[in-house]
This record gives sequence, C-alpha cells and structure tokens, in this order.
Amino acid sequence: MSKPTVVRTRQELKGALRQLPGRLGLVMTMGALHEGHLSLIRESKKHADSVMVTVFVNPTQFAPGEDFDAYPRDLEADLEAVSRVGADLVFAPSAEEVYPHGDASVTIDPGPVAKVLEGETRPTHFAGVCLVVHKMFNITGADVAVFGQKDAQQLAIVRQMVRDLDMPIEIVSAPIVRAEDGLALSSRNSYLSADERTRALSLSKALRAGKDAASAGATSTEIKEAASSVLTDANVRIDYVELVDPVSFESIESGEGVLAIAAYVGSTRLIDNTILEVRGADAK
Ligand code: PAF
Repeated sequence: MSKPTVVRTRQELKGALRQLPGRLGLVMTMGALHEGHLSLIRESKKHADSVMVTVFVNPTQFAPGEDFDAYPRDLEADLEAVSRVGADLVFAPSAEEVYPHGDASVTIDPGPVAKVLEGETRPTHFAGVCLVVHKMFNITGADVAVFGQKDAQQLAIVRQMVRDLDMPIEIVSAPIVRAEDGLALSSRNSYLSADERTRALSLSKALRAGKDAASAGATSTEIKEAASSVLTDANVRIDYVELVDPVSFESIESGEGVLAIAAYVGSTRLIDNTILEVRGADAK
C-alpha cells in the first residue's frame, strides 16, 4: 500500500480533507503504532469511505512526573506502519497547532466515570483526553471514530461525552489485540526489559483466571480473588483489580462486566481488561 498524505497544520488539514470522499473515519493515536492501532484503522475502513489517523502525544492528558517526555516518538516508523494497512491521511500536529491559545480555559469535566480506577491514580488524565478528543472531532469533522477496548474506561468516557454533548459522530470500538503469548499490545510495552515483559504476562493470565472463574459461576468477589491470586510476582505491583459495569464503571455483582487490571511491572504501569459475565451468588 502507498504512504498516506501527511499534514501538520490545521490549514493543510483543511485542504487535504476536501480531497477525501464520503464518510470520514478517524483513528486517534499518540504514535508508537503497533498492531493494535492498525486493527483500529482496519476497523475504521469498514465504517467509512476515507480514513484519517492523528499522531499526537497530547500533553494535557499527562500529569507532571508521568512519561510525556519519554513517550516513544518516531513519525517515520508510524507512517511506515500506516502504509501497511492503508489510510488516506495522517495529521501529525505540534502542541502549538492543537493548543494555539495555550492552556484551554474552557474544559470538559468527564464526570464520575473518570474518578474511579484509572482516574484514582491519574485524576487529571481523562479531562485531558476529552479535551483533545473533542478538539480533534471538531477539527476533522469526522463521521465515525474508532477506539480500542484496551482503554475500556477511555472508551466509556468518550461514548458518554458524545452522548451527553450531542456530538455528531459515531463511536465504534475494536477488540484488544494481544501478542501470541497473551500480552495486550501497548506502546508502553517498549519500556519493558525482556525480563519484565515475561513478568507482564501475569496480567493477561490473571484476566484468564478471572474469566475461567466467571464461567464456573463464581461471584464477583471470587472472580477478583481468582485474578489477584495470579498476580503474586513481587516485581508486579497491583494498582487495582476491579470488576465494573462497562458503561458506568461502578462495581457490579452480576451481569456483563469489565474485569480491569492495572499493575506496575518494574516502573512501567500497564493496564489490561476482559469482558465477562458474572452470574452472581444466586446462580450458585
Ligand atoms: O488512547 C490514546 O492513545 C489517547 O488517549 C488518545 C485517544 C489518542 C488521545 O490522546
């Protein structure tokens, strides 16, 4: 496949968008593209006539002390990756292009879903995500945007923002992509040493244990215990193991749930999740 057109300014973007026919699909990324991102592009092509990708490490979703500076950046490699699946356009703006007036004084409060799980450890994260997602939706005028289930809480918050603010865009989700050994693909996996990468497998193993427990009719407490019991490696520090409703992110006792894990492997914080059905205590 051929390389996409690359634009860096809003002005260039406007011109390039005029050339794209039909329904526009958007895949937002922070670069460091892997198969997970490429699966979002493939999914987007099913829902749109033209597909564009943003590559932008958004400063407003990183708190001081997080990995904004260290976040991997390699636009050439990203364009190479995009050209393997074929997208029409890549928008790779600078921070000044996205935030020309400096810090936004009108911001988005992502509500209660943003206060739990990821929001407890990263209290300002989802407001920054909503800000940039809202801006990119406006700047691009996309008709449909695809987000990965890997960031299940982000997906739920973006869906809620679109619903609550009547944003004229459809949100589509795409499943988590895993390496053959089960590790969920993430740009942050590049921080892991070979030893840490092996240890990181305990996250997907924990989810598997939780899912097996759910299939065997375990209660929500038992499911979380089954998952936690796999995370015993002293070098894997659990941040949370929670079983929540996929929309409200409140804890559940029965029904469809997201079993979500965050853990530090060495100094790298990884997240992973799986969807399962909790039959609940009454089903026993
Ligand atoms: O999921 C991500 O990579 C980011 O949060 C996103 C959606 C590109 C916004 O910066």
